[in-house]
Order: sequence, then C-alpha cells, then structure tokens
Amino acid sequence: MSQPHHLKPSSSSPNHTIPIVSTSCTAARSTPCFFRAASSFCLPSSSSSSTSSLLSLGRPLQRRARARRGDAIGCVPSSAARSSETVPSSSRSGSAVDSSSSAMAGVRGVRATATIKVTVSGFLNDLRPSRVIDNIKDLVGRALNLELVSSDLLDAKTGKEKPTIRSYAHQVADNDDEVLTYEADFDVPASFGAVGAVLVSNEQQRTEMFFVDIKLSSSDGVEITTIKCNSWVAPNSGDDAGKRVFFANKPYLPSQTPPGLLSYRKKDLEQKRGNGRGQRKSTDRIYDYDVYNDLANPDSNADLARPVLGGSKQFPYPRRCRTGRPATKTDPKTESRGGDNYVPRDEAFSEEKLLQFSLTTVQSVLSAVVPAAQSALIDPNLGFPSFFVIDKLFEDGVKLPPAEQLGFLRSVVPRLLQLLRDSPGDQVLLFDMPANVQKDKFAWLRDEEFARETLAGINPYAIELVREFPLKSKLDPAVYGPAESAITADVLEKQMGHVMTVSEAVKQKRLFMLDFHDLFLPYVHKIRALKHTTMYGSRTVFFLTSDGTLRLLAIELTRPKSATQPQWRRVFTPSTADTTESWLWRMAKSHVRAHDAGHHELVSHWLRTHCAVEPYILAANRQLSELHPVFHLLRPHFRYTTRINAMARSALISAGGIIETTFSPGRYAMELSSAAYANLWRFDAEALPADLVRRGMAELDPESDHGLKLTIQDYPFANDGLLIWDAIQNWVQAYVARFYPDAASVADDVELQAFWTEVRTVGHGDKKDEPWWPVLDTPATLAHTLTTIVWVASAHHAAVNFGQYDFGGYFPNRPSIARTKMPVEEPVDAAAMAAFLDNPDQALRECFPSQVQATLVMAVLNLLSAHSPDEEYLGGMENVPWNDDEKVRAAYGEFHARLKEIEGIIDGRNRDRKLRNRCGAGMLPYQLMKPFSQPGVTGKGIPNSTSI
Ligand SMILES: [Fe+2]
Repeated sequence: MSQPHHLKPSSSSPNHTIPIVSTSCTAARSTPCFFRAASSFCLPSSSSSSTSSLLSLGRPLQRRARARRGDAIGCVPSSAARSSETVPSSSRSGSAVDSSSSAMAGVRGVRATATIKVTVSGFLNDLRPSRVIDNIKDLVGRALNLELVSSDLLDAKTGKEKPTIRSYAHQVADNDDEVLTYEADFDVPASFGAVGAVLVSNEQQRTEMFFVDIKLSSSDGVEITTIKCNSWVAPNSGDDAGKRVFFANKPYLPSQTPPGLLSYRKKDLEQKRGNGRGQRKSTDRIYDYDVYNDLANPDSNADLARPVLGGSKQFPYPRRCRTGRPATKTDPKTESRGGDNYVPRDEAFSEEKLLQFSLTTVQSVLSAVVPAAQSALIDPNLGFPSFFVIDKLFEDGVKLPPAEQLGFLRSVVPRLLQLLRDSPGDQVLLFDMPANVQKDKFAWLRDEEFARETLAGINPYAIELVREFPLKSKLDPAVYGPAESAITADVLEKQMGHVMTVSEAVKQKRLFMLDFHDLFLPYVHKIRALKHTTMYGSRTVFFLTSDGTLRLLAIELTRPKSATQPQWRRVFTPSTADTTESWLWRMAKSHVRAHDAGHHELVSHWLRTHCAVEPYILAANRQLSELHPVFHLLRPHFRYTTRINAMARSALISAGGIIETTFSPGRYAMELSSAAYANLWRFDAEALPADLVRRGMAELDPESDHGLKLTIQDYPFANDGLLIWDAIQNWVQAYVARFYPDAASVADDVELQAFWTEVRTVGHGDKKDEPWWPVLDTPATLAHTLTTIVWVASAHHAAVNFGQYDFGGYFPNRPSIARTKMPVEEPVDAAAMAAFLDNPDQALRECFPSQVQATLVMAVLNLLSAHSPDEEYLGGMENVPWNDDEKVRAAYGEFHARLKEIEGIIDGRNRDRKLRNRCGAGMLPYQLMKPFSQPGVTGKGIPNSTSI
C-alpha cells in the first residue's frame, strides 16, 4: 500500500486573506501578499494605523478616471453609483457615513469585476430590455451592490467589526451573450487590512444572477485575487438578512477564522439552515431535512397511497431535502406533489447538463414509447412475440406515433411525455445496441456469463462467500418456514463433479452465493397479490474453479407458507441431458436475474449511493461554512446529487413511477429499500475494504496489496476498485494532514463535530443509536470517514451506474421483472405446465418484462448511463477549488497523476488472458473503474459525484 502524504498544517496567519498593501510599504513587507508588484498600494505607515481616518471614510474620497466607464453598456453614470461608501457594520443597510478629505492620502483604489453568466433558460431574457423594472435599475446602476469585508476587527477588545466599503456595480461588457461583466470601484484605506470576503446585494426585483467569480484588482489593473463563486444570488437580496457573502478562497478551520469574518461565517450558515418553516421557493438556498413522504399521491388515486419512509421503527430511512409543500387532502402525513420539486438553488443542473439531460430524455423516451405504441396495443402487459422482435428493437428504425396514441403511458411518465410533445413529431428512432450484445449476442444464455457478471458486472456488491453450510436464514422459522436451505451437500457435490466435499469447499473458500432469500421472502405474498408479477426468495450457489472463474451449481427458489398454502421450494441445477430441466434452469436463472436487478437498483444503486449520500450534503451545507476546508474537499463530490434525487422522487421511485411499473416488487419497491436500510446499511461497511471483508470476499492481510487478500484473485471490481480507493485515501489523508496537525484539532473543530453529529442523529437519525458510527477524534478517523464518503459518491456509484445500459439494455440479460411463476410450482397449474412443455421459449418470454416495461427500462438505463458534456471526473482538473494552496495543489496533482496511471493499469489487466473474468472471446472488458471518459454512454468514467 502506498504511503499517505504527510503535509504540514498551514503556518499562515489567519489574517492573510487578501492583503491589499504594497511591498514598497515598509509596514507591509513582513506581510505575505498576493500583490507584491502593486506599488500603487503603498500607503504611509501613519495612515495605515489611523483609526480616526478610517472612521471618517464614507463619501467619495477620490475621483479617479474610470477608463472603462465610458464603455458601459446601458449604464447612465450617476454620482451615487460612481463611488464607494463605507458602511458601519452595525447598520450595513443604512446610509454612508460622511467622510473627510483628510483621509485621501491613505486611500487606494480597488476594482471588483464580477463575471455573471448568462444562461439560456430565462436568464438571458431576464437581463434584456423586456424586463422593464429590473432593466431600469440596471440602467441607473442600482442593480448590483458589492461590499468589501475586512478580515480584521476594528477593535479586538469589543469585537467591533470594521465598516464594509460599498459600491454599486455597473455593467461594462457583454461577451457574445454568454457572460456579463459588472465593475465596482472602491476607495480603500490602508488600515482596512485584508479583504476577506465580498458581500453581494442583488437589488433587482425578479432577476437572479449567477456569479461565476469576482476579481479584485488595483485601479491600474493588476489582479489581487479572484474569488470563485459559481453560485446564484436571489433577487431582492439587499437587506441584511438577504445579503450574500462570498469568502475569499482560502479555507480556515473555525478557530482560525480571521476575526473580521467570524460573524459572516456564522450568518451564512444560519441563512443556509433556514427556519424549518414554510414552502421553499426555487430561488432559496436553504438546506433542511424531511422524511420520504412525497412519493405517494393519494389525492389522485387511493391506490397511490404509500407509507412514509423515515422516522419510524417500521420504515427507517435516510432523510431527504425538505421542500415544505403542503400536505395532501387525503393524508396529512403525505406531502403533496404539485409544482417543482425544490432543491437549493445551487444544487440545480447547469444549463449544459440540463440541455443534455432533456435531449437524452426525449430521445430515450421516444425510443421507449415508439415500439410500444407501434405494436398497436398500448397494452402494458403484452410480452414479446419472439426473440426476433426483441432484436428488431436495435435493428429497424421506427416512426414516431402521434402523442394521442400513447394511451396509458401518459400517466406513467407525464413529465417526460411533455418533452415528447414539444419535440419534432416525425422521426425514425433506434435503440443503440448495448455493448455486451455487440460483443456476443448469445452471452446472456451462458452460465459462465451469469457467474462472471457477479464479479465484473453492474452489481458486484451482491456476491458473498459461503462461510457455513448448510445455508441458513435469519428469519423467524415460525413465520417463514425452516431456516435451513434445501440445497444439500449431495446436490452441490454432484454439480462439483465430486472433486471435493462441500465441507472441504467451504474450508478452502471455494463456495460463493447470491443470497436474495431474507431480503425478498417477507414480501413474497404481498407482491404476489399484485397483478402481472411474482416473487420468490432465492439462493444461488457458485463454485470457484481452479482457473479462478465461478461455476453455477444450484438455484433455490422459495415461496413461504401463507394462510392458504404451505411452503414451496425447489432446487434447480444446470442440465444438459434433460430438456425440461434445461428450460426450467433458464427460467430459474431469469428469476434470480430479476432479483439481482431489484437488489442492484433499490439497494446497491439508489439506497447506498443516491439516498444515503443526501444527508451528508444537507449536513455539510448546514454545519460546515464555505470557509471550512472539509467543505472545500467535499463540495465537488456533492454536485447535482440533490437535484437528481429530487428528479428520482418525481418520476422514478414515486408511487406508480417507472421503478414500480417495471420491477418485480411493484408498489413495495421502496419499502424493500427501507428494509435493506434497516438490516444491511451501516456507515462503516460503506468503505470498500470493509464491504469486501464483510462479504467474505477479502480478509485483512498487512502483507498483501491494499492490506487485503482477496478470496477470488480475479475479482475485477475489487481489484480495480481498491486502486481507486487507495488513490482517494492517499489524497484525502494528505488533505486532512494539511489542516489538522493533531487529534485535538479534529476533536475541537466545532463545525466538523456539528456536521458529523447531524449526519448521525438527523440525516441518518433512524440509525443514531448504532454503535458502529466512527468517532471523529483523530486525523486518521477523519480521513477514513471522508474517504468513505468520497468513495461512495464517486467510484461506488460509477461501478453500479455507468454500465447499466451495457449490461441491462438487452433485457434478457438482466430482466427487471419476472412476471410468471415457475411452471412446476405446486399446486401445479396444469394449463401453464402444458403451455410450458409445448413452447418453453414462449413461456420464458412471458416471464420476461412486457414490451412496454422492457422498452421503458431500456430508455431509462440509456439515460442514466450517459455522461454529460460538463461532467467533472474524480481527480480531474475541471474544477480545483483548492488551487491557491501550493501543498494541497501538489497533493491533488499526485492524485490526478495516479488516476491517469490507473487507467493504464486497467487497460493492461483487460488485455491479460490469464484474467478470465475480464478477458476472453466476446467478453466485455471491465472498464467501470477507469476514471475518465468522453460524454455519452461509454461504460467507463468515475464522476466526482452521484450526479445521474
Ligand atoms: Fe445513479
């Protein structure tokens, strides 16, 4: 295992934020300065310490020629807008204090240049003359007010802050309709000290502004620093409560905060926490918690009522972002679903992502809808008449039907269909051929591929070592039947060719399983009460062969007893001698694949990477200041997650939504994910090494790479994932060491401790009493905890997300649902059995998803598997918020270089014929842990965050 970086904590003074003093000034020479060349900032030492001259600032002190003012677009220079004002901290919204010309000698000019992005969804129009009121404000230079905040206090004893220096900004440039530039000029006394932040007031009535950055420079154009913003500022934010603070980029632990910024640090967090009341507006920036009570729609249809997830012993669940919509009329515990699903303003998609998402959505939905509509049916339950028709989905173009013919699909995907109606109406559409089918059209039929995908597919989180035999359930035998599995040693030893006994195989760690027994069994009868679906508990056992591959041995399907039926279960095995057994084996595999598809989507994907991450985002924004180094570290890993989760709550996981419509558990899908949260989820096991050890797929071994010895040497996800885990860990350890020199600095960090307390007791409050939560008391525990969060949001998500279309697009390989029972289930349905014996191919297709289900899932998987053009990848250089710190920048550079190196290592592994789980004829190479990718569906690439 490579060693972590050991960087020393910063030795800089907390006050070294943005000194705006000159090196030619004697008093300033001992002060680190971003602006050594700016001789115009030289101030007489007497004035720099003159409190009386500072207090006298306020009215225009200097009338400098503003070269660019004359070029201002749409601006009418006014006296009020030309100059800066000093605003006492106690009355920042009040009028400027009068000044005295005696202070002129100690004053220098600073120009702030704000870059504001023009976006295509309304903002462009908002800033054009059609918006009369706001435009007039802009014309007179009263649209945007900026204030410089000193890092220093006026009086250390009383804690009195220095007055801010305020100036209206003028629009001076309009760059090809893409960005607008505003400038404000300030007269800054030398005694003002370092500028630690800029306050922004958007005084327009309706127009939001997206701030890219604010550059501070001297009046002769030499740059002092650039504050990165990348944030929306709401209209009418001119009062004290609404003013927005943008801190200079340098992070500080709470105890090291420059004293002049302390109150701003506190206030900004208070703004983001909100008051927990009322309905959120789209322009809000408030992060708060709520339970999952917005999936149901009982006012529309009683059948769309669902239990609240979270906040109860019966349905524990992580919390989501609070939107505050009113309750439904039917159920006061359920939130109504009208209007936009609020997310804090800065969590929204970028324009580029939004456009890509919309475009892909339309294409995907069209692709899904067309075959369904074309089959004349609009019967959601019609299966595929032949495998030939399945193949035709990828081969023939189909013409778009009129929207009126879309029948029931209108209610399934109304938002998506709105996009459909707005799109061109006559086009030929195709599904892309999934990558696995391009490689080997018949791979889905082979047991070898079924087994290989447990190690190198999109759900590598389910396979586990058999540690005791016989296999046993943890469920109550009085309710669910015998705990002991029906898979006997005789059955397994026969399938193993009697090369060893089962006890020898267990001892040698040669037996593995997919255990979907205890998760699904309690839901079998509920799900069977729904139409057009069925369910079993299942156990699937594999043998690790001497060439390192897994061989399928047996599948057990179980139906527990009910009030009217006894328990039924049967063990199926591969057969080449008996065609009936051979077809039953194929059908049993299809059931297990549907179980795996459900486990993948509901647990490995949604619960663990989308749902469980949202509380980290909420707690970080509420408790970690944007000045906090841990906030700087985590922010890229939270990009778009809240937004994509809100979209999922609207259309994917909602009552009657796509998951319920297309996966076996139907309306119980989300309850199942709550059961998995209750029984399986624990924070400490979200770390990859701990996850592997928990499943018996690795054991701790200090002598081995990564400190782990893998149980299956060629486990592509684990082998590649551990490279990524280590790279993240080294980077995070270096970053933590940079800011936390010892245990006390971690334990005493009040914001960090508040963040972690809130994650444990509020966001994951239903698990607050679990003993396994790590305590953040040393740099090591902090680094491990942060590594876990970064891993889950980036690589874990990528492993289960970006191969979805490659492996599941051709649905026979991963059917989302098994719709019919095994024909041999007792009591045997004579007609179904006869139909199976007459045409087993058709029986299998009837078990598969219907045409509508299959095409909808294909469309959604295609959408979710695509990288956006504005994707930001793990270790990528697109957005490096810590680039002002040389040591952090160097550590990040090493992280980036290591990830580039890992790409090459993975390519080499995929060419190694000895690695039979990832290299062979017609085999899809394992690329899901390759860090970088082009846009689109590529089957590789690890974005920083769970963003699709
Ligand atoms: Fe995802």
